[in-house]
Amino acid sequence: MRPRLAPPALVTLVLLQLITMVVMFGWYRHQSLTSTASPPAQRKVHVLLLSSWRSGSSFLGQVFSQHPSVFYLMEPAWHVWMTLGRGARSLRMGVRDLLHQVLQCDLSVMDSYMPPERNVSRLFMWSHSRALCSPPACTLTPRNAFSNQTECQKHCDSRGLAKAEEACRSYSHVVLKEVRLFELESLYPLLRDQSLDLRIVHLVRDPRAVWRSRDQSASSFYRDNAVVLEQGDGKGLEAQYRVMQEVCRSHVRMHETALLKPPDFLRGRYKMVRYEDLARDTLAQVEAIYRFTGLEMTQQLQDWIFRITHGKGKGTRKESFQITSRNAEDVSRAWRTTVPYEKVRRIQEVCKGAMSLLGYRTVDSEKEQRQLDLDVLSPREPYKFSWLPSKTTKRSSNG
Ligand SMILES: *[C@@H]1O[C@H](CO)[C@@H](O)[C@H](O)[C@H]1NC(C)=O
Ligand SMILES: *[C@@H]1O[C@H](CO)[C@@H](O)[C@H](O)[C@H]1NC(C)=O
Repeated sequence: MRPRLAPPALVTLVLLQLITMVVMFGWYRHQSLTSTASPPAQRKVHVLLLSSWRSGSSFLGQVFSQHPSVFYLMEPAWHVWMTLGRGARSLRMGVRDLLHQVLQCDLSVMDSYMPPERNVSRLFMWSHSRALCSPPACTLTPRNAFSNQTECQKHCDSRGLAKAEEACRSYSHVVLKEVRLFELESLYPLLRDQSLDLRIVHLVRDPRAVWRSRDQSASSFYRDNAVVLEQGDGKGLEAQYRVMQEVCRSHVRMHETALLKPPDFLRGRYKMVRYEDLARDTLAQVEAIYRFTGLEMTQQLQDWIFRITHGKGKGTRKESFQITSRNAEDVSRAWRTTVPYEKVRRIQEVCKGAMSLLGYRTVDSEKEQRQLDLDVLSPREPYKFSWLPSKTTKRSSNG
């Protein structure tokens, strides 16, 4: 007993079905396009500021931390490395999971890495976080004011991490700075997690300038060196070269992963920033970084950035993050007059790939090194990947 339909009715039905399908398909396409192009404004944004030691990430971290919409934490993975202290590779997933939890304002993960009495002051570099010096974490600094680490340290410690979690939940942006990550692949589950809106800012710096800065306090890096190298005590010149090599390799790896063949969920979520560009043109660079992460620039922030980059850099050295305009040029150049050419040559050797990829020109003699008017910085964009078809190279990192 099948219902019989006259041919015209059948045609109408099929047509109706077709129209419905086309409309539905269009709607889905629209949904998926708009959701990747501009995530809903009210959604929380999660930012990982990835960098390496002595690359200006404290400064860029403050640029986030002092923003009134941001909950910021510095180096949460420090806890993993210092507690477990084995090779970086075996800590990778622990670091990943910790970042995942902390981005979601869940600090219970610290249970594995902190003594049972978990005060806010036990969080590594906690007073660098303006949000931990402001309500609801602390009454000291109004949310739209700039915090002072020294004052915060004196007045804002509290028992337990509940207030820090509450503070975290009350901001539209959570930003974590991390130098202890050497690839992007381990972050894929975070990028795929529908409850996160993750953006990655990758800050790099001329390895020769990094070397000079690290060399000034070499012993403070021994422990981290040993973790990076997965063996030894992290001391000695050769260990330093090998750490530089690992850091440089990680820059290349991340940059290529994000720009050459990025999986869909990584597309448009990665932005590379060179320290030198940040130092030369701070305001424009910060504006671009804010735009990428959906943060608004305010007059108050502009004034603050101007102040800390044009300060005297003497008495307030700690507060000015050593990126005063004069300093920035001096510091960028210091390696050229102070590091022996033989060392420069070795660094260039171990960092060859990264330097050419990121636009840092090598010097081929001591004479070139000392010749300060010789600019060693290539224009930032567009990058020329000679081994790539030009179609792919057109995409810049400015996502
Ligand atoms: C921060 O507070 C300390 C101690 O009260 C003070 O000496 C210092 O000048 C302050 N720094 C800034 C940048 O205001
Ligand atoms: C933890 O914070 C409380 C409250 O501020 C303070 O009394 C205590 O001394 C702190 N303990 C540690 C170990 O820092």
